[in-house]
Amino acid sequence: MSKYIIEGGHKLSGEVKVHGAKNSSLPLLAATLLTADISAIENCPQITDLDAAKRILQHLGCEIKQEGNTLIVDTSVITCDDIPDELMREMRSSIVFLGAIVSRLHQCKISFPGGCELGARPIDLHVSSLQQMGLKIEEQHGCLDCFIDGKLKGANIALSFPSVGATENIMIAAALADGETTITNAAREPEIVDLAAYLNKCGARIKGAGESTIVISGVEKLHGCTHRVIPDRIVAATFMSAAAITRGDIVLIDVNPRDLISVIPIFEEMGCAVTTDSSHIYIRCDGRPKAVRTIRTMPYPGFPTDSQALLMAVMSVADGTSVFVENIFENRYKHAAELARLGAKIKVEGKVAIVEGIEQLLSAPVRATDLRGGAAVIIGALNAIGKTEVSGLAHISRGYQNLHETLNELGAQILLED
Ligand code: UD1
Repeated sequence: MSKYIIEGGHKLSGEVKVHGAKNSSLPLLAATLLTADISAIENCPQITDLDAAKRILQHLGCEIKQEGNTLIVDTSVITCDDIPDELMREMRSSIVFLGAIVSRLHQCKISFPGGCELGARPIDLHVSSLQQMGLKIEEQHGCLDCFIDGKLKGANIALSFPSVGATENIMIAAALADGETTITNAAREPEIVDLAAYLNKCGARIKGAGESTIVISGVEKLHGCTHRVIPDRIVAATFMSAAAITRGDIVLIDVNPRDLISVIPIFEEMGCAVTTDSSHIYIRCDGRPKAVRTIRTMPYPGFPTDSQALLMAVMSVADGTSVFVENIFENRYKHAAELARLGAKIKVEGKVAIVEGIEQLLSAPVRATDLRGGAAVIIGALNAIGKTEVSGLAHISRGYQNLHETLNELGAQILLED
């Protein structure tokens, strides 16, 4: 099993290009199914979650060519209507293919992502929204059997929570539906805006993406197009955190600072100097980071849950005590125990984590517990005295393209041991 050996204490400096957003590329690839044509999706990161999405498209009969970070997807022929269990289990966000497949084929058979059960389990918003559009969904033996006689129908859908994935599924399903669909309490994340931009370039009529109400007027047909995926705002926050914990000095290239509207002020509050222009972020962190006021994760434009673990790693060496409140996901503090192995003083009580900053972390064997939690332990290891072994790297490759090489180019000392 491969692991990183990270020698802490090296200051990061230099320029780093931020790759395309995982959370944009995945729904965009699902949406290509609507076009029965060829789309070129540029700036796709080379990560294993995208490999999983490619496998789903190929299973359905699509042809995919990869030219660097551009994926050329030909969805003109679809040969089946199911996503097998092993592909569904590879990533939770495979559920975003549901709206696309039923829109195209009027039927679909999928298993639950991660094998969870209907009811309390969190695809209820996807399911109930598509049901409101006329889709019949039967649950049998852990599978969802979905069908509709004819096209999906426009509907007024009020989400009880602004779920990113459910908003995307509805937008995709509604693009070719009969009539108008209105989503209220829609998610407002930049990835939603990117999905609408792609679909509108393909001929869809979507208004209001980025706001709480999105109106989609169904059209008869969509065509393929060329679209560039937005930069990954969580990867950007990862490099900023790595700079802050090593008292570094880096320039992020190919980034959209507006998408980090609630993240940049946190770095400023901890004492980093941050300047931005339309596609760069320059961050310089001279001294020990200062503890910040309570960080509460919220739907966009609030502080993103995906950046919570990253900032917790930085706050573990801050001057003072910081408080985190995780409002989006239950049980998203698994990294706290791993950071504690490095000496961090973190107390978790339900959705609250209290982090008492210490001077410096100390190396220890640690594990990536999930994608962003894994990035957080790597950030911690960049600070720790000695050599830290990080295992569980499969989580990291789900969402970061060449993370250790990129950090090494900035001055980190990370060895990949197979
Ligand atoms: C997306 C992101 C993920 C991010 C999350 C929140 C992708 C591929 N993933 O995930 O990185 O952390 O947004 O910003 O874009 N929920 C339900 N029922 C549902 C759907 C969701 O109860 O049907 C709950 C979830 O359990 C969770 C909350 O709503 O507590 C937010 O989930 P959601 O916004 O749907 O996240 P994802 O789209 O899965």
